[in-house]
Amino acid sequence: MAQTIIVVGGQWGDEGKGKIVDFLAEKADIVVRYAGGNNAGHTVIVGDKKFKFHLIPSGIVHENKLNIIGNGTVVDPEVLVSEIEDLERVGFKIDERRLVVSSSAHTILPKHREEDNPKKDVHARKIGTTGRGIGPCYRDKVARTGIRISEFIESDSEITRKIRPLVKDTCFIINEAIDQGKKVLFEGAQGTLLDIDHGTYPFVTSSNPTAGGALTGTGVGPTKIDSVIGVFKAYTTRVGAGPFPTELGTEDQTNAEGRWEDIEPVYKEALKEALEKANEGDEYFQGKYMRLMGKEYGTTTGRPRRTGWFDGVAARYAVMVNGMSAIAIMKLDVLQGLKKIKICKAYEVDGKITENFVLDTKKLWEVKPIYEEMPGWDGDISDARSLEDLPENAWNYLRRLEEISNAKIALVSVGPRRDQTIVIDDSVLF
Ligand code: IMP
Ligand code: MG
Repeated sequence: MAQTIIVVGGQWGDEGKGKIVDFLAEKADIVVRYAGGNNAGHTVIVGDKKFKFHLIPSGIVHENKLNIIGNGTVVDPEVLVSEIEDLERVGFKIDERRLVVSSSAHTILPKHREEDNPKKDVHARKIGTTGRGIGPCYRDKVARTGIRISEFIESDSEITRKIRPLVKDTCFIINEAIDQGKKVLFEGAQGTLLDIDHGTYPFVTSSNPTAGGALTGTGVGPTKIDSVIGVFKAYTTRVGAGPFPTELGTEDQTNAEGRWEDIEPVYKEALKEALEKANEGDEYFQGKYMRLMGKEYGTTTGRPRRTGWFDGVAARYAVMVNGMSAIAIMKLDVLQGLKKIKICKAYEVDGKITENFVLDTKKLWEVKPIYEEMPGWDGDISDARSLEDLPENAWNYLRRLEEISNAKIALVSVGPRRDQTIVIDDSVLF
């Protein structure tokens, strides 16, 4: 059993970390976010209620837990206050026993938001940022011209009055809790391939979503961490621009489909058409089927996500750079109905086959994925509660994911609800 767990995204974000964090938060004493800001979007479903968070840790919906926004994050004070007010409106009482913000986190100012506008700014458009001021704020942090939250709350306004009681030197709180034997969950945002150091630079976010970021982003040392859980979808998605070796269809085709509100009225027919064409071998429709089945539209921006097969090369890399103890495979149910499923197990680059991820982004655009094909399965698996409940082909698929990724699977998710989770190995969990 673990006392401290880092949950980290293994792909390009949106892997379903919110659900895993929510699942683990039940037993945690503290949930702490360590990197990023309100560029993230977590959907947490509790009973029949759906909660969307961008900045506040997903643990906030649980009673008697301390949620911490760590020093590695960037905090937009207006967003913080509006998320607090949203929670208060549905009956949560948010005070410093429930939510604390690091005094050393950096403040996203209006000028950061104005600068980071993909409609007006060429650079923001090239990366396809979420437009929340994340990059400019981190830039000022590194340039040593930023404003930390401790300084921000020195001024007097309605916003600073609301935030001030929540601001603390959080590294002491977290380390003392660990010394007392309390359980701490480090909640990752974004994913490994969006990491400023280890991702597909420059098509990345401006922080370290990887496990190392959980240490610098909270002030906890590496010897205090028991377990790192990597979260992956059973396929791959990416929002925003940048190379995506296993992408099905093109980014332009995806964007041309429009946002969720455009698709929703014709959802059923579109899904049926996508499955038919996918099973005739049409790659674009294979990707579209994943997008529709998985409701792959951004929580933060509503943008349709680019979709593709599971990239085992990228996964193995993510397992390595995070030192993952085990992995969680999410949304396995999304693949049901597909007659054939592919896994990328190597890349061809410059005429050579490699099993290593390609760090040269210019080359990554050009790699050719080498696939292994597996038979899919029919029928709904969203009621499966143990491996035995899964069809043999789904089971085989999971085994291959383990082998290719070089990691053990601890959890499998077959639907959005908490109970739609299969626990395979709980020794790496709380
Ligand atoms: P930024 O973080 O807003 O600067 O955006 C940089 C890149 O990271 C863009 O490609 C975004 O789409 C991507 N990104 C940022 N946050 C998330 C997230 O929570 N999920 C998925 N992609 C993200
Ligand atoms: Mg998200």
